[in-house]
Amino acid sequence: MSNPSAHIVIGITGGIAAYKTLSLIRLLKKAGHEVKVVATRHAMDFVTPLTLQTLSQNKVCTDLFEPTQNFEVEHVALAEWADMMVVAPASANIIGKFANGIADDMLSTLFLAFSKPVFLAPAMNKNMWVNPAVQHNIGILKDRNCHILAPASGFLACGTDGEGRMQEPEDIFQKLFEKSPFSTAWNGKKVLVTAGPTYEPIDPVRFVGNYSSGLMGMQLAQKLAEQGAKVTLVCGPTHLSVNHCNIIRVNVSTADEMLRACLAAAPESELIIMAAAVADYTPALFETEKIKKTDSVLNLSLKKTVDILATLGMQRAEKQCIVGFALETENEIDNARKKLQNKNIDIIVLNSLRNEGAGFQCKTNQVTIMDKNGKVQQGTLKGKEKVADDIIHYIADYLKITTPPLP
Ligand code: CTP
Repeated sequence: MSNPSAHIVIGITGGIAAYKTLSLIRLLKKAGHEVKVVATRHAMDFVTPLTLQTLSQNKVCTDLFEPTQNFEVEHVALAEWADMMVVAPASANIIGKFANGIADDMLSTLFLAFSKPVFLAPAMNKNMWVNPAVQHNIGILKDRNCHILAPASGFLACGTDGEGRMQEPEDIFQKLFEKSPFSTAWNGKKVLVTAGPTYEPIDPVRFVGNYSSGLMGMQLAQKLAEQGAKVTLVCGPTHLSVNHCNIIRVNVSTADEMLRACLAAAPESELIIMAAAVADYTPALFETEKIKKTDSVLNLSLKKTVDILATLGMQRAEKQCIVGFALETENEIDNARKKLQNKNIDIIVLNSLRNEGAGFQCKTNQVTIMDKNGKVQQGTLKGKEKVADDIIHYIADYLKITTPPLP
């Protein structure tokens, strides 16, 4: 099942916030949408056509009267092609033109020919924004059903503080798809993802741990965040980083800390994915001083940790979907199926250490995904980024929701 990808025309006017529009284009492309850019002459003082063309993977329209392009046809064709139009940043000048029906360049001409949803993200000096002429024009455009993504307060390029900053690309992205037919199924959904190993301390300088890098869980968190989900990523010790405004990262070290972080986030999560390699055993005693090298054999006494996944499965909220991982070396399918049942979860992702290039410390993985309805999907060896796509699609199918096409 897949959502249609939207055709989006992005208008850019001359303003320093134009640099942020580059991130917006990236977000849209990564979510599987088609983007074409129309940039005004002044926009090109801030961003180059080559950058825009490279990011949008489409030719950039720059001016209505450029001799090499047939824009009289082009603006009508673009108006027909696009499902929505986003102008970011929208200067006071373009807002004035749009409100008053002036069509003296490509962007204002396109606007007049455009009959589908239009979003404007104004950016300007705070005095300009509150100027009655600008506010009057904004009022006119609102009455004509343009969506105004009102500027935020903050530090402005002119060196002052106040209302006039263009909204952040991630916020604009989110608003474009709220309740729209192109909204991704994950938009606004609350998701808990765990990743990485846990370290169980023996004494102040040693721990019991495992080789998990955290990459699989992080890819899942990143992909879901890019599709609009609000992700809490509970992460064991790893040097890897994720960077997305939809991800709240909670760093933990031990299984017990991970348990507490998960219990805090789980009640409001619609989807839980436990990709972490949680230690099954932790030292029964923590030595407060470094253990000295005295005896030839050192016996460590370990006690079982709480099974976080099983705990969440026992106290699952209604309509919550829980996904676990299973790492097996023998009787893989049978063992994974038992874990699926015993832990009372919906889906299990089976990693077999028998497959070369799969599992810990690898950039690739090969998984079999199974659910409680008996479905089994065998995967091939691929990069963990692609495996994350497969897992997310499997979950979407299980939940019978639609998602953007696989890249
Ligand atoms: N898990 C957990 N808490 C633990 C141990 C494991 O939440 N204390 C979760 C893992 O995050 C994973 C799933 O349980 O999603 C299965 O982990 P795995 O190590 O394959 O299985 P275990 O249940 O630990 O059983 P065993 O090690 O005996 O195979």
